Amino acid sequence: MSSARTFPPEFLWGSATAAYQIEGAATEGGRGPSIWDTFSHTPGKTLNGDTGDVAADHVHRFREDVALMKDLGLQAYRFSISWPRVQPGGSGDFNPEGIAFYSDLVDALIEAGVAPVVTLYHWDLPQPLEDAGGWANRETAYRFAEYAERMARELGDRITVWTTLNEPWCSAYLGYGSGVHAPGRTDGAAALAAVHHLNLAHGLAGRAIRGVLGDGAKLSITLNLHVVRPDDPSSADDLDAVRRIEALANRAFLGPILDGAYPGDLVSDTASVTDWAFVQDGDLEIIRTPLDVLGVNYYSTVRVRHFDGTGERPENDGHGASAASPWIGATDVAFVQQPGPYTAMGWNIEPSGMTELLMSVHATYPDQPLMITENGAAFEDEVGADGRVHDERRVSYLHDHIDAVGAAMDAGADVRGYFVWSLMDNFEWGYGYDRRFGIVRIDYDTLERIPKDSAHWYRELVRTRTLPSVESAAQLG
Ligand code: FCB
Repeated sequence: MSSARTFPPEFLWGSATAAYQIEGAATEGGRGPSIWDTFSHTPGKTLNGDTGDVAADHVHRFREDVALMKDLGLQAYRFSISWPRVQPGGSGDFNPEGIAFYSDLVDALIEAGVAPVVTLYHWDLPQPLEDAGGWANRETAYRFAEYAERMARELGDRITVWTTLNEPWCSAYLGYGSGVHAPGRTDGAAALAAVHHLNLAHGLAGRAIRGVLGDGAKLSITLNLHVVRPDDPSSADDLDAVRRIEALANRAFLGPILDGAYPGDLVSDTASVTDWAFVQDGDLEIIRTPLDVLGVNYYSTVRVRHFDGTGERPENDGHGASAASPWIGATDVAFVQQPGPYTAMGWNIEPSGMTELLMSVHATYPDQPLMITENGAAFEDEVGADGRVHDERRVSYLHDHIDAVGAAMDAGADVRGYFVWSLMDNFEWGYGYDRRFGIVRIDYDTLERIPKDSAHWYRELVRTRTLPSVESAAQLG
């Protein structure tokens, strides 16, 4: 085990969060409702009926949280702006109080020596835009560009990286396909239209941001690229299942954004669902935008096989149970249970998938700088008798995955940074507060923040740029 692995001085170490998962103050300060407010308040949609109403109460405690980041020595913080907090209706008037919150947060971060890495959209669409058709409606892309332009004017050159979207795969396929995420629709054609309108939104927003800030603005998008393995590598049918899932999951975004075209096989695979007429002349030119850095989120791998229609079709792709599949048109593909160990999400732990993913993106796009914008693990943490959270499984997960990032860098991938998901325990979407991803524990009764062993371990990593051993974590701090 290469526990002495060292990272270059310019490599950026940070942690990540998202607005709806931590902010709370859902009806305060002029914030409007988002699709996640509506969804989480709909009975049966989230575990235990949890909502983001209070979450980690970050809006009221952001100064404490920034002080914590400073104490942990973090060099960067990836957070998202809640669109309905700054523009309650999703169009028209902006909300000065909401904008002031993010402006103050950014100032506090800079004062603490923590670089602000902004995501403009981490799934919390203003509800009025969903009422008008949401991401299945092309107009939403134009509204997003207006919002992006305003944020560029307000936050300007204080932002280190501008990320347009977080995981549009989830927004489109889980939001409009399987319905396990807000807005909870199950319409395959709408999901594919959402894919395109999210891509278009990314392109339009990129132009808007560069229009305000010039080419000095660092532009990014974060994708949850899937590492897809065949059940039987010698089966041509299983390999074709891999191709189909990679097209829906990865190439539906990388294709238009980096190559300026949708993959032909994706369009033909989904021909029975849509004719793709929502792609209009000129769209692909807008979407294809050079990225200063491509954000990559990695947690786990998936395994697929050909499904001939007989027997029960397993649908364990790790993204929540639903009668509808997020894999639009891929009715002849089945997801196969992977070997463990697993996290509390049921996701298999496979660090080699991190190296494999980075190397495969690097092989296709050799000049594209990359950044790990999310990686981490949920476990059932407990506060010990000594008052500490000895989360050695999380430390071990982080150790092995960061080591795997280093292996990809050794093999030539241009990786610029790593952001652990997440700074703190938070509202894990459909799983509510039941799944804890933080390196800092949130006591949901008192809202007290308790750095876990993983936080102490991560601080040591950032300080020394050298991977500390897993065993050292319990003694650090
Ligand atoms: C990603 C999301 C993030 C968090 C992690 C566990 O898909 O971007 O908000 O929920 O998974």
